[in-house]
Amino acid sequence: MSVTEDTETIRTLFRQQHGFLMSKIMFTACELGVFDLLLESGEPLSSGAIAERLGTSPSGTERLLEACVGLKLLRMERKDSEGLYGNTNLANLCLAKSSPKSQYHYLKFQSEVIYPGLQFLTDIVREGKGPFKTTHGMLQKSFFEASCSSEEELQRFSDAMDDAWSLYGREVMSAFNLSHFSLIYDLGGGSGALAKECISLYPNSTITVFDLRKVVERAKKHSMSSNKMRITFKEGDFFKDPVPEADLYILARILHDWEDEKCVQLLTKLHQACRPGGGVLVIEMLLNEDRCGPFEAHLHSLLMLVLTEGKERTPSEYKALYTAAGFKEVQHKKGSRYGIILGRKQ
Ligand SMILES: C[S@@+](CC[C@H](N)C(=O)[O-])C[C@H]1O[C@@H](n2cnc3c(N)ncnc32)[C@H](O)[C@@H]1O
Repeated sequence: MSVTEDTETIRTLFRQQHGFLMSKIMFTACELGVFDLLLESGEPLSSGAIAERLGTSPSGTERLLEACVGLKLLRMERKDSEGLYGNTNLANLCLAKSSPKSQYHYLKFQSEVIYPGLQFLTDIVREGKGPFKTTHGMLQKSFFEASCSSEEELQRFSDAMDDAWSLYGREVMSAFNLSHFSLIYDLGGGSGALAKECISLYPNSTITVFDLRKVVERAKKHSMSSNKMRITFKEGDFFKDPVPEADLYILARILHDWEDEKCVQLLTKLHQACRPGGGVLVIEMLLNEDRCGPFEAHLHSLLMLVLTEGKERTPSEYKALYTAAGFKEVQHKKGSRYGIILGRKQ
């Protein structure tokens, strides 16, 4: 290996071995409100002023801000030998809580649930699943269930899930023209964030979010004040309860939570409940057919191993699940982050 190749390899090693530290720096700055403060202030601030406004230590704050500059989350300009910090576009767009495309809640979930959950990765790869302890000390099969047992934890998960749709909701909902599906159910649709994107694109359709009782109760409470759109909520368990007849069922980030057998069970139920000519729209990260990338999908497949009993799949693997459930016509498209697969009933 040449000296240049050697240096490049060691640089790659350094970045990757410190990846966890980089994430934690971003999470910490979010949690302390650095990006919110700088967005609100509208002008760059010194490290001392930031520490004072956030109630944090001057020495710790300075080091955190300097590291954030290295991560391109903040920029720093010198004025009269003093460093003044401001948000980069990335921070203004995605890290400040008040930004319309904020990923704040997803980062919070990553920091509080995924980050500690990864301490089990070696054991999980070696031996399989948990059990994991909830905050009340109960044992759960998956780390996810253990981390979403209380009302507060459920809220944290729901807010985290919603963040993705401010970035990708419009793209996934417009990948196929869905305007001829008049009655749509978003199964496991959580608080209705994706349903809102759907109804804004297809205002002549009606959409119902179908989710577990505790999720629907909370979503109804929240949507009373914020949701003026025509979204209704229905409580039920898509494995145990009958699923109402519809033209289109959306399954966004649902199948990757489950093993193949459960996916076929659910898709078969939907094939039976679906009106003729209707279909099922699956939204998931897709692995390439040769399983070489994309890297994000491999990362998420490992996360699914830690958090759930599922995995990420290739388009062919999803098509095989649809076919086993009775669907004949299956097409897929790739979006910038998520794949969109539409299976039609004849
Ligand atoms: C990973 S989240 C995806 C939420 C939403 N579809 C999204 O992409 O933002 C999984 C959702 O499925 C719901 N869910 C899990 N098991 C369910 C079941 N058996 N019946 C109905 N909903 C279920 C959860 O409550 C949660 O809202």
